[in-house]
Amino acid sequence: MQGTDDFIKSAVEGLKSKIQGKAIIACSGGVDSMVSATLASKAIGDRLLAVYVDTGLMRKGETEEVRGMLKEMKVNYKIIDASEEFFAALKGVADPEKKRKTIGAMFIKVFEREAKEFGAEYLVQGTIAPDWIESGTGGKNTIKSHHNVGGLPKEMGMTVVEPLWDLFKEDVRQVARALGVKSSERQPFPGPALSVRCLDEVTPENIGIVREACFIVEDEIKKAAEKGKMDLPWQYFAVLLPTRSVGVQGDRRAYGRTIVVRAINTTDAMTATYARIPMDVLDTISTRITSTMKDQVNRVVYDITNKPPATIEWE
Ligand code: XMP
Repeated sequence: MQGTDDFIKSAVEGLKSKIQGKAIIACSGGVDSMVSATLASKAIGDRLLAVYVDTGLMRKGETEEVRGMLKEMKVNYKIIDASEEFFAALKGVADPEKKRKTIGAMFIKVFEREAKEFGAEYLVQGTIAPDWIESGTGGKNTIKSHHNVGGLPKEMGMTVVEPLWDLFKEDVRQVARALGVKSSERQPFPGPALSVRCLDEVTPENIGIVREACFIVEDEIKKAAEKGKMDLPWQYFAVLLPTRSVGVQGDRRAYGRTIVVRAINTTDAMTATYARIPMDVLDTISTRITSTMKDQVNRVVYDITNKPPATIEWE
């Protein structure tokens, strides 16, 4: 990447000349979409509408956090609660690729509605290099169809603008720091959100379990990093498995759910090594999950697989 300031200048100029009318962007609050929204907002002001879709699959407190960031960056925004629609569409969908496609299709539906209402002719997207490299654009095999890459734009009849196309995550973070975007240090979060961390059926109840477990993993790892017990991993979260196992609660047999602790380090998300979490931190995570979520979870396991052969997410 060229120098950060030069990149910002040329990206804003580029967006200004490319976008002749109104534009819309899906803003999840992640660093990619927040940076794209901020750059586009600097270029075209309120001719940009940033849409945050509350899919019901977001992390704890995420919607309010994103609202705060959009306000602070003075981006024109709208928050839409589409959770009921998403859960209805995902009912009975277990296959990972089908999940992504269903969510992609729902996004199209929600956006088409908003784009029409706003009169947007342009779609700004926060696609970065690993998204299109791993989604098979340019002749590579599809590993996962990351939902923000693919047929979506043409179907929507808008001109697509992707200011971060050539950038890798660390470049985007640098740009975010320079712009003062709060999510610069936020860990990446997949477009299909908690649905790909829920290997069971995507229901409000299952998402509730993985949401709470994710929150505990994030919270305990952040606290451990603040105390200097470990470095903050690049990405760290929980996954809910479809497996139940036998346990004991008091003097009774339990048959509960399984949570995986996943933490990785990487520079570009193309390859990754699992983060070495100190045993006492793992112990705290396990105890907190199994005590505060004792009616649901009775087993916590630690994923010690690199990428490859695994991927970072479980789906
Ligand atoms: P994987 O699991 O493919 O993840 O090793 C690499 C990075 O990409 C994120 N990820 C996604 N991001 N849409 C996204 O925008 C997706 O469908 C998606 N799937 C994975 C993942 O969290 C990791 O940072």
